[in-house]
Amino acid sequence: MLGRVNHIAIAVPDLTAATAIYRDTLGARVSQAQALPEHGVTVVFVELPNTKVELLEPLGENSPIAAFLVKSPLGGMHHICYEVDDIIAARERLKAGGARVLGDGEPRIGAHGKPVLFLHPKDFNGTLVELEQV
Ligand code: CO
Repeated sequence: MLGRVNHIAIAVPDLTAATAIYRDTLGARVSQAQALPEHGVTVVFVELPNTKVELLEPLGENSPIAAFLVKSPLGGMHHICYEVDDIIAARERLKAGGARVLGDGEPRIGAHGKPVLFLHPKDFNGTLVELEQV
C-alpha cells in the first residue's frame, strides 16, 4: 500500500532560524517561505535528492501545529507523509483494520494540491501519519 516517503514535516517555532540551519549549517537547498493560511502554517521546503523536509511554522489563530509547539517548544518531528496510489482504497483498508482517520475521514487537498488524509498517532507508534495520493 505504501509508496515513497513524500515528506517529513518538522514543526518549528522560528521559521527563519530553522531555514538558516538547513541552508547554512546543513547545506541544503531550501525554498522561499510560503504562507498557507488554509492549512494554518507557513512552510519552507527543504529539497533533498530522495524526498523533502517541510519546516512548518504556525500561522494564524487555529494553527494545527500550535499545540504541538506548546508541548515541544524547540520544535520536533510533526508527521511523516507516505505516498499511496489510491487514497480511498488505503482509507478503507486502514479503517477495516481498526485504524483511526482524523477529521471527518474525507481526503482534503494538501499543501501540494493532492488529496491527503491523516491517521491517528496512537495507532502508529506515536507518529502522526499523512497519506498523500500521487
Ligand atoms: Co505533510
